[in-house]
Amino acid sequence: MPSADGRLKDKVAILTGASRGIGREIALLFAKEGAQTVLTARSLESLEAVAKEIASFSGLAPLLCALDVKDSHKIDECVDKTLDKYGCVDILVNNAGLTRDGLFVRMSDDEWDEVLDTNLKGTFLFMRAVSKEMMKQRRGKIINMASVVGLVGNAGQANYAASKAGVIALTKSVAKELGSRNVLVNAIAPGFIDTEMTQALRDETKNAILKAIPVGYFGKPSDVAKTALYLASDESNFITGQVITVDGGMVM
Ligand SMILES: NC(=O)c1ccc[n+]([C@@H]2O[C@H](COP(=O)([O-])OP(=O)(O)OC[C@H]3O[C@@H](n4cnc5c(N)ncnc54)[C@H](O)[C@@H]3O)[C@@H](O)[C@H]2O)c1
Repeated sequence: MPSADGRLKDKVAILTGASRGIGREIALLFAKEGAQTVLTARSLESLEAVAKEIASFSGLAPLLCALDVKDSHKIDECVDKTLDKYGCVDILVNNAGLTRDGLFVRMSDDEWDEVLDTNLKGTFLFMRAVSKEMMKQRRGKIINMASVVGLVGNAGQANYAASKAGVIALTKSVAKELGSRNVLVNAIAPGFIDTEMTQALRDETKNAILKAIPVGYFGKPSDVAKTALYLASDESNFITGQVITVDGGMVM
C-alpha cells in the first residue's frame, strides 16, 4: 500500500522508459510514495506488467502512453492526456535511453543519430512539452538521467557519452531559465547499475569496471530510484542545476 503520508502524495509524475530497469523501479517507488504515475515506453504491452503491479498495491491505474521519445507529437499528446486526467504535472523523469557502442572511427551516422536523438533530443522534447504548464503552475521538478560517462567520457561510447554530456549541459541551462518560476531541474549520473542495458556487456568489461568502483559492487536500480525520489520530493526544494552521481565512488 502507498503510505498515507507518502513523500510524493498527490503529485503527478511522468516517467519515460518505465517498462524495465531503472525506469520501472522509479515508477514503483514513486507510486508507493503516493504519486499518480504516467508511464511511457514504446509499447503499451511492455508497460502492462508495471501498471498491474502498481494497481495491486495502490488501487490506482497509472495512465499509460505508448510513445517513442523521438516523436514530439506523441509527447505533446501524452502531456495533454496527463493534464486532461489530473489537471497538472508536478514531476518529469527523463529516463529513456539506449546505447549503440562501438569504436569512434567506425561509428556509423545511424549509430550516432539514434543515440543522440533518443538520449538528448528526447530529453529536450519532453522537457519542452511539460515546461509551459510547470511555469504556469510555478512549480515543477524535472530529473534527467545522465551517466558518469557524460562527465568523464568512455572509449567505445563516444555517441553515448556525448549524449549524456549534452543532457548535463541541457539540465543546467534549463535550470537557469526556469529557476525563477520554481521549476527545478537536476540530473542523476549513474555509474554501473545492474540492468538489461549492462547485462549485455562482456564479463571482461564488467570485471574491469568493478575494479574501478571503490565500494566493490555494482549498483541496483533501486539505488538510482531512491535518488530520483529525493530530487522529486520536497526535501530537495532548494536544489537545482545539479548532477548527483550514483556510482559507488567510481567518479569523484
Ligand atoms: N544501467 C546503467 O548502468 C546505467 C548507467 C548510467 C546511465 N544509465 C541510464 O539510465 C537510463 C535507464 O537505463 P536502464 O539501465 O534501466 O536501461 P534499460 O535498457 O533497461 O531501459 C531503458 C528504457 O528506455 C526505453 N527506451 C529506449 N529507447 C527509447 C525510445 N526511443 N523511446 C522510448 N523509450 C525508449 C526502453 O524501452 C526501456 O524502458 C538510461 O537513460 C541509461 O542511459 C544507465
